[in-house]
Amino acid sequence: MYDPQRPFVSKMSTLAMCLLASLSVSFSAFAAQPASQHTADAGTPQWRPAFHYTPQRNWMNDPNGLVFHNGLYHLFYQYNPNGNSWGNMSWGHATSSDLLHWTEQPVAMHVNATEEIFSGSIVVDTHNTSGLGTANSSPLIALYTSVYKAGSGHRPGTQAQSLAYSTDDGKTWRKYARNPVLTLDPESQNFRDPKVSWYAPGGYWLMTTVVADAHVVKMYRSNNLIDWDFLSDFTLPDIPHRGALWEMPDLFPLPLDGDSRKQKWVMIVNVNPWSIAGGSGAMYFVGSFDGRTFTPENVAPAGSDPSRYQWLDHGADYYAAGTFANAPGGEAVTIGWMSNWDYAERIPTTPWKGATALPRVLALKTVDGLPRLTSGPVEQYTRFVSTGSTTRFNELSVSSRVEELAPSTRGVMQNIDVTISPQSARRAGLVVRGSANGEVGTRIVYDTERRTLTLDRSKSGESRFSNAFSKAHIVNLPLVDGKLHLTVVVDRDSVEVFADHGRTVITDLVFPGEDDNRVSVFAEGGNATFSDMTITDLSVLKP
Ligand code: FRU
Repeated sequence: MYDPQRPFVSKMSTLAMCLLASLSVSFSAFAAQPASQHTADAGTPQWRPAFHYTPQRNWMNDPNGLVFHNGLYHLFYQYNPNGNSWGNMSWGHATSSDLLHWTEQPVAMHVNATEEIFSGSIVVDTHNTSGLGTANSSPLIALYTSVYKAGSGHRPGTQAQSLAYSTDDGKTWRKYARNPVLTLDPESQNFRDPKVSWYAPGGYWLMTTVVADAHVVKMYRSNNLIDWDFLSDFTLPDIPHRGALWEMPDLFPLPLDGDSRKQKWVMIVNVNPWSIAGGSGAMYFVGSFDGRTFTPENVAPAGSDPSRYQWLDHGADYYAAGTFANAPGGEAVTIGWMSNWDYAERIPTTPWKGATALPRVLALKTVDGLPRLTSGPVEQYTRFVSTGSTTRFNELSVSSRVEELAPSTRGVMQNIDVTISPQSARRAGLVVRGSANGEVGTRIVYDTERRTLTLDRSKSGESRFSNAFSKAHIVNLPLVDGKLHLTVVVDRDSVEVFADHGRTVITDLVFPGEDDNRVSVFAEGGNATFSDMTITDLSVLKP
């Protein structure tokens, strides 16, 4: 599925994009016209997610500056204030008290004549180590990537890490007077995406950042968030994906199997392209960190293909995932961008493009003797679902047929929990977002011979906008005691499948019609049962 030519066609190099953006060239020429009955003016409300964040208008990509502060979750994000395609990169801003209902806030940091604002992170500087706080308030400190333009004093396209701070809880931001605080020597056009956290054992701030085209995560430490000292590089001895980019790193500890004495470190590296589902995706490594060096364990042998690496998500639409600073209980709460650089600029939504995936909590569990990340919906979501209006089936038995469920199960915003026992069936599964005539539907298929789970969007509605909009995403997944538990989260333009309680996740965008709202179960070549099936209507979350 991986096409080495693709990155240069679908996502132009960041440098080229910067140059084009600084020349005010619009990318609309690259965007195929949506083949939809809705006119551009009316927009596409049928695909506006209800409980996944999208800006009201315009383009968004990576979540940035994820921080929990004074009872609010802040989501900043890569945003084009002037258009519905990538460019004029700025930080948009939204807040939420429950990670489900988001309020869009004014743009936090604007592109200006000398720099664009690329991805980065925020920390709460509780002890005012930076000296940028006031007597009454701990500052929020953002580390972001400045992408310099002509006239900035840097070569156009140079990328360096800069600091901005807020003393009013994230509402307004001031740039530090002596930016950038960290640059390479010689300066680089691919040095970006600083992610900062507090390294408690050493009592200092830790930054991971990348040299994207060199496949290196660079780590630094600081006492004040302003002066940074180099710690070490993390790379792979034999890069399996030359030509791809490493972006948006994140390094954090997690207890293994909930045991705080068995702590491991997780390094997320977002890679584009070369993902398991094609295009961009979030890869991770588990290992140890001694305050200076990250040492991964069980790295795939040289020359391995993506299936030998570990992925946060096996679908096509999960990228730039990072964790919240300061999350309650120290949990690793994460939000990813629900799109793929292979076709993000061509998806048929207007007047916005880009959304976040469902916020998830990461945990490390031993699976087949190895530590693996699980990611499940945040408990705010699960709690919300448990109070919703539900249709329940204790047990459904299906033999070599497709069975459409009762009209009360129909919906375009819904949660489905089910345990499937495929028994004698060759394949068994669900169809969501199905049409009345059966021609449209997103299939979630367990194949008992191959022992694979597939999210198949080949008949999920609009897909002509890009040849790179891949059709089906497959993952190896043995049954547990002959059973498979699924949580399926459906919103107006996405399907997220959490299998085996977050052991495997598949996230895909889909663009069906607004009446494509039917749910079916099916078994092929034998009998399957579906037990404890609950279908919860989430339309009350409608923005
Ligand atoms: C990842 C990324 C980052 C960069 C930002 C630009 O999707 O390419 O590396 O900072 O997007 O918008």
